[in-house]
Amino acid sequence: MCGIIGIVGTAPVADRLVDALRRLEYRGYDSAGVATLEHGQLTRRRAEGKLRNLETVLADAPLAGHIGIGHTRWATHGRPSVANAHPHATTRVAVVHNGIIENFRDLREELLADGANFESETDTEVVAHLVSREMNHGRSPMEAVANSLPRLQGAFALVFLFDGDDNLLIGARKGSPLAVGYGRGEMFLGSDAIALAPFTDTIAYLDDGEWAVLTRDGAVIRNAANEVVVRAPQKTTAAAFMVEKGNFRHFMAKEMHEQPEVVAHTLGHYIDMANETVRLPEDLPFDFAKLNRMCIAACGTAYYAGLVARYWFEALARLPVEIDVASEFRYREAPLDPNGLMLVISQSGETADTLASLRYARDQGQSVLAVVNVPTSTIAREAHVALPTLAGPEIGVASTKAFTCQLATLAALAVAAGRARGVLSAAEEKRLVRALIELPRLMNEALKLGPTIEHLARSFTQTRDVLYLGRGTAYPLALEGALKLKEISYIHAEGYAAGELKHGPIALIDEKMPVVVIAPHDSVFDKTVSNMQEVAARGGRIILLTDEAGARRAALETEATLILPDADPLIAPLVYAIPVQLLAYHTAVHMGTDVDQPRNLAKSVTVE
Ligand code: AGP
Repeated sequence: MCGIIGIVGTAPVADRLVDALRRLEYRGYDSAGVATLEHGQLTRRRAEGKLRNLETVLADAPLAGHIGIGHTRWATHGRPSVANAHPHATTRVAVVHNGIIENFRDLREELLADGANFESETDTEVVAHLVSREMNHGRSPMEAVANSLPRLQGAFALVFLFDGDDNLLIGARKGSPLAVGYGRGEMFLGSDAIALAPFTDTIAYLDDGEWAVLTRDGAVIRNAANEVVVRAPQKTTAAAFMVEKGNFRHFMAKEMHEQPEVVAHTLGHYIDMANETVRLPEDLPFDFAKLNRMCIAACGTAYYAGLVARYWFEALARLPVEIDVASEFRYREAPLDPNGLMLVISQSGETADTLASLRYARDQGQSVLAVVNVPTSTIAREAHVALPTLAGPEIGVASTKAFTCQLATLAALAVAAGRARGVLSAAEEKRLVRALIELPRLMNEALKLGPTIEHLARSFTQTRDVLYLGRGTAYPLALEGALKLKEISYIHAEGYAAGELKHGPIALIDEKMPVVVIAPHDSVFDKTVSNMQEVAARGGRIILLTDEAGARRAALETEATLILPDADPLIAPLVYAIPVQLLAYHTAVHMGTDVDQPRNLAKSVTVE
């Protein structure tokens, strides 16, 4: 995740910007930069690599000015380089950005046709030219930003600095977090409270779609309709700076809401956005084209991510996949194909059963690939190759952002396997990559179901059992939804393949038990509608998760129908993970359980 800081201050700002960026180093980055107004003129200093390189540049060529912006960049569009480092600027405006601008290619073409000259491969530079063009047409900085934001598709946070105006910063938030800091005669913008900690403990988080105009006297916050929003700043306790809950009540809530940003971060690691292709490490010790079979072993939520991946590898790469929970795999002495690959998936990278499965496969001479969230973990170190999920620290015991980052990594891997095995054409790869690039925006849309789900969850507190149904890649989501609910609300829940309903679980249907049906409008949707009709015919309580087309086609009485944004079948599991997480979370909150540390559970099961 990139780090953002902006200061409209009363003292020299360059060193303060670097101090704030240092507090954001935990987010990971590969270049950094700052911009200030020196005697009213936009001036930048940027460097590849760590902040010490930027400090060297600043020592050689100091930057004056009491107003400025800064950025640590994790490369998404364009390789790590000075030219691609933020801030990006024209002669009129400088901008720093966190997230993905999905439609940057079209905007770039439009601006090039208008005579814009680009110096980088980034999506961010397009934003600088868009705002600049508005100002060249005589619009004020505020009007220029207000006219430009609606043109940007994706999930992002932006901060702007304007040539010649040393009492103005503008920040905008759509999917990636941005906080306003209130100082004495100075104001701040930052990716989170941690960045602002050196300057203030009084902050206000922008909500999605909002933007803020800052001067030394304060901030005016507006919504997407440009109406002024009243937002009382809050005191952030020093403790919260350490491991930031932000303005969330639980870590799980914060981590659910971080998903658009961290999934964008993970996708940025595996996708060449400019060429719309997947890029994997060069030195993989196996060739997907020569594999006969892949074995997957994992536990809990990570296992469900593997179940989703099986559908992708078999459909997109025609690669046969065998999958098992690690606690079973490690003891069944599975015969492994000499031309096979072992894939283990783990958030912590320390789960005993998964580690044992890795060691079994390695001892059998298999190449072992790990998808892990902790790059220094045992599993990461013992695998032949470790692919990182860049979810950042996951504090809540119930896995949320790690799950969707696992899925993002596995989806990219499946596309790369399909390309390597000659199953996917370049055009098909491009189409699938474009679908992946839409994810941060669609997940951000899905998060807006929170208030609806909070209300629906009240009825779940009175229930003893819940059944989750799904088909295809929605079947592992049914399993994951049931796990989420039972592990944090302690209500018994079961996930089932919808097609199995008639083979037993239909005996459970009555007017008391909620049946959560996960059904994007895909190729198996009509089959699932039949299952819902079987449930409805017996007076069952249906909660349907679908999209507009699915809701129209289902056309049956439900207790609730939650409408998700239209999503390509490849990415639907990541979008539909959001409502099942929210349903479990809000039910648990209503039940009064310890959401972040549920009873009997540990974040990492390092023993058998
Ligand atoms: C998921 O919400 C649970 N916390 C649990 O099932 C977890 O996914 C499982 O223990 C595997 O952990 P790992 O990903 O760290 O290996």
